[in-house]
Amino acid sequence: MGAKSHMLQSRRLLSAMCSKMAEEAKRLAGFAAVDNHVKNNQALGIGSGSTIVYAVNRLAERVKQEDLHIVCVPTSFQARQLILQNGLVLSDLDRNPELDVAIDGADEVDSDLNLIKGGGGCLTQEKIVAGCAKTFIVIADYRKDSKNFGDQWKKGVPIEVIPMAYVPVAKALASKFGGVADLRMAVSKAGPVVTDNGNFLLDWKFDKLHNWSTVNTAIKMIPGVVDTGLFIGMAEKVYFGMEDGSVSAREKPVH
Ligand code: A5P
Repeated sequence: MGAKSHMLQSRRLLSAMCSKMAEEAKRLAGFAAVDNHVKNNQALGIGSGSTIVYAVNRLAERVKQEDLHIVCVPTSFQARQLILQNGLVLSDLDRNPELDVAIDGADEVDSDLNLIKGGGGCLTQEKIVAGCAKTFIVIADYRKDSKNFGDQWKKGVPIEVIPMAYVPVAKALASKFGGVADLRMAVSKAGPVVTDNGNFLLDWKFDKLHNWSTVNTAIKMIPGVVDTGLFIGMAEKVYFGMEDGSVSAREKPVH
């Protein structure tokens, strides 16, 4: 085997090992959240993404083993499918406008427990559901743990926009706050990603750190913006699955 193909093979092996470790970290975080926060007779918000899959699997296991009475409100089409596939009771905010706990993943968590979400395009429903919960719990692997936004997550802040407004909103973002906002394009479809709400997504690559609370409010005031992937002061606790097989928890700091 030549040196080049040997290097390629080592790289592939390393990346397979890293992704296996990250999957195990997601599982640990998901299990910890469900084991520590789910009790009988609760209404739960179910987040979206790849980490929540482990939490829902654990939830289904506990519901069966402990005969728990739990209703689940989804944050996306994916979450709805997950609830149904796991034989859990599907509800909605009409029937359960007050949730005991919402559990969801995140793309990045900063030192104040602020979040960037929306990498999977579901931020609006995720924020609504989290906002209806008494306790919002986040689950993530070690790669999401940052001091400042942008330390790990390089894809910017997702922003859901009404389709006809994507150009003016992108221009307003760049002129008011700097950076650049790109329309998120689909991978196995021609054209843009269309959200579960029939809207488009802009990924705003900021070029400096901001007061995220102020910026979040200002972005929401731009006509055409539906919501942002900035979840400020919403998370109570984040469980990080770590590389060494442990779980590290961080709580919202008291300022
Ligand atoms: C969905 O739009 C997102 O907000 C997800 O919750 C977030 O991207 C985390 O996803 P993973 O668990 O797949 O990393």
